[in-house]
Parts: sequence; structure tokens; C-alpha cells
Amino acid sequence: MQIILGITGGVAAYKSAELARLLANQGNRVRCILTEAGARFITPLTLSSLTGEPCFGANPNQGEWRANPSIEHIELARWADLVVVVPATANILGKAANGLATDLLSTVLLATRAPVLWAPAMNTGMWEHPAVQANIARLRSFGHAVVDPGEGILACGEEGSGKLAEVASIAEAIQAHGTPNLPSLAGRRVLITSGPTREDLDPVRTLTNRSTGAMGIELARAFRDVGAQVLLVLGGDMASPWGVETLRVRSAQEMLEACESRWADSDGLVAAAAVADQRPEQPSSQKVKKVDGAETLALVRTPDILANLSAVRRADQWVLGFAAESENHLEHAATKLKKKGLDAVLVNDIQGVRAFGAQANTLTPVTAQGPQAPIGPLPKDQLARAVVLWWAHQLEARESGR
Ligand code: CTP
Repeated sequence: MQIILGITGGVAAYKSAELARLLANQGNRVRCILTEAGARFITPLTLSSLTGEPCFGANPNQGEWRANPSIEHIELARWADLVVVVPATANILGKAANGLATDLLSTVLLATRAPVLWAPAMNTGMWEHPAVQANIARLRSFGHAVVDPGEGILACGEEGSGKLAEVASIAEAIQAHGTPNLPSLAGRRVLITSGPTREDLDPVRTLTNRSTGAMGIELARAFRDVGAQVLLVLGGDMASPWGVETLRVRSAQEMLEACESRWADSDGLVAAAAVADQRPEQPSSQKVKKVDGAETLALVRTPDILANLSAVRRADQWVLGFAAESENHLEHAATKLKKKGLDAVLVNDIQGVRAFGAQANTLTPVTAQGPQAPIGPLPKDQLARAVVLWWAHQLEARESGR
């Protein structure tokens, strides 16, 4: 992706250097535009060194900082696949909301047809001021996206909202906004289960498994990036991704209830969770004491979330399941497909591989038409994107009656 990173005059400008490097390392081309005030916080040399691209601005007298010939703003505006302003001051937000073009950055913002993303950072009083909030609302009405600032102790010593969002979150938002939407998935509501569930024996002991939830989280990101509206129902401790509504759950029963409450509003389900198959029959509210001799733990089955939701699906809803099999994986997947009434099972052959946490994985989709071409081996983030692309094509073909 070709990204223009605008940097305006705030203390958080030093974080844009980290962002520039992260984006460049991800394989993007990044050209920075500094405003006059931004250049008081960070130098063009830092940014051009990190990105390997020239840094642009209004002042021709500073190092590599290029002059601003009259046509440059149009060239840059056309060059960009995405324009992001980090940090965005109240001043630049006000200018852009009102169509003012007083320097290179504000002119590029007005001229570009690329998506625009803002990461504001400022004092709490300024952020909460109705004028700034009105400007933010106006920018959103133009289709611009905003990575809201977080709360914390600000450089001015005050505590409150206005702190620049985490660099990693801004990078995720850039990825999400710069990826073209896929027609078959844009705007679709996708429910994703992910992570392990935990079944408590007593207040200190629990039954769980070694799943991290990483694959479901990568799928949530991948669906988000092609324009889907994702609801992630997440067990375990992993952080939820930026821009994805997340319901955190503990047990299989909680996961089922969370999913049931939202299934009717969803277009599709991706069941990537490693749900504990059993739970203790009688969980104890007090810590269980050890006894002499053999001990027995009575277990009962947990609800099958995928099967329950699939059983009440409407004709317009689709359902994808996962399976990890160590033998006869395609046959087992085909059985699961029929038994649970699914559109596809993505099966992972775990013979000789550590599926949970393995770096590169392969998934073979099994549909009513039989096993499809394997996807992978790929790292989980790329695998998730490839799965989403595969499914988008399936949906497209289905909707066009092919
Ligand atoms: N699943 C679920 N709820 C459960 C169990 C599984 O939603 N209580 C979902 C998983 O998220 C996954 C699929 O069902 O999409 C896995 O199916 P399952 O038959 O449970 O696979 P295994 O656990 O491998 O089953 P088995 O032990 O029968 O091979």
C-alpha cells in the first residue's frame, strides 16, 4: 500500500516515527508530510531514514525536506492509497472539516480521493470541546475514519481522554481501511467464536485446553479488513483486535449464550473456538480438598455451540466450522459437515504437527462438493486472509447462481 503519513504539531509526534517504521516493515511505501509545527517535534531526516522515502513539507530549508512546488500536492494526493494523520491536532481537524488548504498537508487532504484516517491527540479539554467534536463528526460524515484517542496521563499532566491511540491499533486501522472491500462480505455481519473455554472445578481450578485463540482473532481481522462487521465471542486471555466488537466469555455455556443472543442478527458464523467438550458435573463453590486414595471427577458434556446455532439457521445464513484431526481427516471432516449441517469444514491435519500455536498451518476446506484445494501452509495471519478470500469467492459464486 502507498501511504501518506501526515504529522502535525503535538508531543505524540515521536510516536509517528515508530508507526512509519512499522508500516514500512510491513511492506508499505510510506511518505511523510510534516506541518510546520510537526517539524518542531520530529525531524524530516528521522522520517526519511525510517521510510526510505523523501519527507515532504512546507519549508525547503531543512535537510531533505523537499520544497513544495505548486503541483506537488496533486501528485501526492494521487500517489496515496490512504492518507493518515498521526497525531492529528485540533487545528488540522478544524482545517480539514472546513475545507481549508493552507499548507501541503491540508491541501493534500483536500485533493486526495484516497481513504482518510485520523488519529487525534490533544489535551482532554480540547478533545471534549464541542467545536472539536463537531469537526470530528463532520469528517466522519465525509467518510473519513477516526482512531479514537485513549485515556491516560497526558503530556500536559492532566488525566483523561486525548492520548494518542496505541501505534499497533493505528497500524491495524490503516490495514483495515486500506484493504479493498470484497463485495460478497462488505457490510455482512459475521459472528466468530475463538479461543479456549474454561470450565471451573472450584474457585481455583479449571478445565481448559491449549488453544490461544490466535486463529480466530486473525480471522476476525481478515473479515474486518474486507469490510465485514465482525462480532468476536472470545475465550482466553488474548487482546481483542482493533475495530472488532468483542464479547468475552469463560465457559462453553457462556459462549453459547453470547452467540445465541446475536445469531439472528448475523449473516454468518465462523466457529473457530476450541470449546471444552466436558465440564465438571458438580462445580464446587469452595476449594475442593484432597482426599486419600483414588479420586474421581464426574464430567458432563458441554453444549455444542456450532451444532446449536446451525440447527436454527435461516436459509440466508452460512456456517463454517473447523476440525483438527490426526487421522482420516477428510473423511471425519465430511462426517462433521453433514452431522452439524455446515457449509464448509476447514480441516487441519494435525498428524505430526502442533496445531495450537504452530507457526505455519494448512487448512483444507471440505464442502458438499468434497475436499477443495488446501490453503497454506501459511502463517496464521496470511492463512486467515486466504480463508476469507476463498470464502468470499464461494459466496460470490453462490449468489450469482454458479
Ligand atoms: N465446537 C463448538 N462447540 C463445541 C465443540 C465444538 O462450537 N462444544 C465447534 C468448534 O469451534 C469447531 C467444531 O465445532 O468449529 C469442531 O467440531 P468437533 O466435532 O467438536 O471437533 P472435535 O472436538 O475435533 O470432535 P471430535 O472429538 O468428535 O473429533
